[in-house]
Amino acid sequence: MRAHEAGALHASGYGGPPQWLPYPGDVNELMRILWPRTVRRDEQGRLEVAGVDAVSLAQEFGTPAYVVDEADFRARARAFRDDMGAAFAQVGGGADVYYASKAFLCTAVAQWVAQEGLCLDVCSGGELAVAIRAGFPGERIGMHGNNKSAAEIRAALDYGVGRIVLDSFDEIDRVTAIAAELGVVAPVMIRVTVGVEAHTHEYIATAHEDQKFGFSLAGGHAYKAAERVLSEGDLRLLGFHSHIGSQIFDTAGFEVAARRALELHARVAREQGVQLPELDLGGGFGIAYTSEHHPLSPAELGAGMARIIERECRAEGIPAPRISLEPGRAIAGPAGFTLYEVGTVKEVELEGGLRRTYVSVDGGMSDNARTALYEADYSATIANRRGEGEPMLSRVVGKHCESGDIVVMDEYLPADIGPGDLVAVPGTGAYCRALSSQYNHIPRPPVLAVRDGVARVIVRRETIEDILALDVPDEL
Ligand SMILES: Cc1ncc(COP(=O)(O)O)c(C=O)c1O
Repeated sequence: MRAHEAGALHASGYGGPPQWLPYPGDVNELMRILWPRTVRRDEQGRLEVAGVDAVSLAQEFGTPAYVVDEADFRARARAFRDDMGAAFAQVGGGADVYYASKAFLCTAVAQWVAQEGLCLDVCSGGELAVAIRAGFPGERIGMHGNNKSAAEIRAALDYGVGRIVLDSFDEIDRVTAIAAELGVVAPVMIRVTVGVEAHTHEYIATAHEDQKFGFSLAGGHAYKAAERVLSEGDLRLLGFHSHIGSQIFDTAGFEVAARRALELHARVAREQGVQLPELDLGGGFGIAYTSEHHPLSPAELGAGMARIIERECRAEGIPAPRISLEPGRAIAGPAGFTLYEVGTVKEVELEGGLRRTYVSVDGGMSDNARTALYEADYSATIANRRGEGEPMLSRVVGKHCESGDIVVMDEYLPADIGPGDLVAVPGTGAYCRALSSQYNHIPRPPVLAVRDGVARVIVRRETIEDILALDVPDEL
């Protein structure tokens, strides 16, 4: 059963738990790959992160709360920087890793990324403002977006960002004019639509490029854009950029994308006499949300991608450009989880005599839109104690007025779970707070960073007063 416009209740035919969800031998066992590295169960059976147990977190900060294992986030960032750097150094050009801040950004996170020596990808004036507030070095910032405003471009150039990724001919005009007005030469890349769509284990290579981002390769627009940019004294072309999708688990899609982008890169060298120094292959590296996902490590990804670059550059007879990569989810996602409190538990009968328990928590689609939006799968565990009951097929749902308000579609939770218990959902460090809303006027949860036995707030909880403060009443 999957999404129905009117909500899950209206969909038909539930075939039982998905194949990737076997009946667990121990319902309290934590599947390591889903959790931040410091997470474990303590002697009392409570979930613990970086030495702080979930019950203490809930008591001190309330629920729901997003929790980030700071050391884990930093370690994942470092692994990308070091392993990608090492892999691409082998083929000549080296690599820069841009943390894709759309996955999750706040000032503290921008500071961690700067301290770990990565670059930062922003795609709006708001994300840039956070980076500036964090004192992120301008030359290590890249700015994206298919419709950047003049104000956003001006702010980026004013701050001295290292690259603006151009997305249309209108934008070439706009950036040229603003660079001229500011008296700077704008470093730019050209986003290319290479005709590769990659999602999870599948990718599709097509000739058509029916999407809003980038300059078409097949239609010749990308080459024309390069000609234009190279003729503008106010712009400096660094290279081409391609991003092919999300939750990608192998390098096959990158192979096609890199080949197509490098053909263009080589054509510019041949016909324009310009050896572009860089190539950006974007982000999209997959993470494990459930036992069905098997992500590659940054070292494995780096080795595979570097082999592709080496082979394609040799075939084109060009030196390997410096490569940039833009992982977001793979750094922030597994470093975080969401802590909820259970409010109600309700059993329902499904077709074929199956039973499922609905476990309602104190958050939902406003703090995690991905299940409703993308039919994303998540996992969950009891977090305040060891469950004593048998594993029971459960659905973790929120408190919103929407039957599609589901956080975790299918999970085994202990049969004795009840009101007041805590539930933790791993893998929520990326695209959860970032996509959150105030639906039903429910204030957004805080983000807590935990490190070396200490938890602190890095984004505070929203309050009803915050929500009311934006609301301008007519005379009461
Ligand atoms: C241009 C670009 N780079 C990087 C990313 C980050 O993707 P992910 O978080 O899946 O690594 C995205 C995501 O949409 C993107 O559009």
